[in-house]
Amino acid sequence: METFDIKGKRILEVGCGVGLTSLMLNSRIADITATDHHPEAEAYLQLNVDLNEGRTIPFVRTGWEQKDASLGEYDLIVGSDVLYQPNHALLLSSFVNRHAKEKCEVIIVDPGRGNAAKFSNAMLASGFMQSKLDAVASVQGSSSYKGRIRRFER
Ligand SMILES: C[S@@+](CC[C@H](N)C(=O)[O-])C[C@H]1O[C@@H](n2cnc3c(N)ncnc32)[C@H](O)[C@@H]1O
Repeated sequence: METFDIKGKRILEVGCGVGLTSLMLNSRIADITATDHHPEAEAYLQLNVDLNEGRTIPFVRTGWEQKDASLGEYDLIVGSDVLYQPNHALLLSSFVNRHAKEKCEVIIVDPGRGNAAKFSNAMLASGFMQSKLDAVASVQGSSSYKGRIRRFER
């Protein structure tokens, strides 16, 4: 996200946690909305925005099981380590599909939790194409690390 083309894009982060991805995008003055269902996520995000002296990041507390049309639709949807439960693949792919514009790119970084293939299949069934599958280098240098950056578009 440090170098990704963000010009003119409405961007949604799913499962933002403490908000690293949104903070990076915010530092580039991106049009970013952060989301998470955790009750503490908004407070941690704001704390990190303050520590980084950034602009307040719009935050919506929502779960992937919720059908909240007011969140709207996005050109780019990003998420990191959001497929750690077996039911996340279908829940998240449906949520992404509901909030993706007709033309949309989706980037999900997964450390190899074992549910990403199911997510990819659900995305393909929703009309997305998997455009890229890049390996993520292990910070510890382990060759068995299975981290991947999955990119989809339609
Ligand atoms: C492992 S953390 C990753 C956080 C952050 N993206 C990162 O990489 O540091 C997964 C995040 O997904 C959120 N999450 C899990 N299930 C969710 C759901 N059903 N709806 C919305 N957020 C969810 C959790 O609250 C948590 O913040």
